[in-house]
Amino acid sequence: MGWSDWARAAEIEPSIYAADFSRLGEQLGALVEAGARVFHFDAGDGHFIPEITIGPVVLTSISPLVHAWGGVLDCHLMVEQPERHFEAVANAGGDSVTFHIEACANPGDAVAKARSLGLGVGIAFSPDTPVEQAAAAAEGADLVLCMSIHPGYSGQAFMPEAASRIAQLRALLPDVTRVQVDGGINSDTVGSARQAGADLLVAGSAVFWHDDPAGAYTALAGSVTEGPRG
Ligand code: DX5
Ligand code: ZN
Repeated sequence: MGWSDWARAAEIEPSIYAADFSRLGEQLGALVEAGARVFHFDAGDGHFIPEITIGPVVLTSISPLVHAWGGVLDCHLMVEQPERHFEAVANAGGDSVTFHIEACANPGDAVAKARSLGLGVGIAFSPDTPVEQAAAAAEGADLVLCMSIHPGYSGQAFMPEAASRIAQLRALLPDVTRVQVDGGINSDTVGSARQAGADLLVAGSAVFWHDDPAGAYTALAGSVTEGPRG
């Protein structure tokens, strides 16, 4: 099993970072009922990003639920030396790791290490990193994540220049490699990200910062148009 089995042509991935953690299991269950399959899990270490977010302890609590419901956990590691944490993520029930090339001395070794643990693999890059640098490091990865905000927290605005960066990335990658976008995705911005070639669309505040996250997910998923690849 891997990304080709998990993700549909376009996938809205609710970002758990924006959830109400006192009601996490209930909110995830409602999202699964509404059709969500791939959940985005943000780990931040207080170094690569200033924020300390969530990590393997929370993952351990939710992964049995998410897996029993047929879902998967896509873990976005906003941490220094991410490869040190792959084993803990795998043991906690994470299905895939996406790490930042800015935080990793040897992305090729990290890709191999993630694979050896049976994890899916993504390469992430921040708004100040050249697109070419990310594309060049993508060998062996399932997806490349183009950040459309400075990584850190939910609720920031989509940076308009991200659309052309996504298009540039899409053109540089092999067809099989998926393009993910993270940051400021909502009903106003999802169209341009999709048109530019992103097919994995992370959404935190646009899903969870509503009274009815499942309803917000349904509305957002319904507003996703066809992309250049269908
Ligand atoms: C922040 C995280 C995001 C965050 C996105 O750096 O990587 O996944 O939850 O939140 P929104 O969709 O609100 O920008
Ligand atoms: Zn993220």
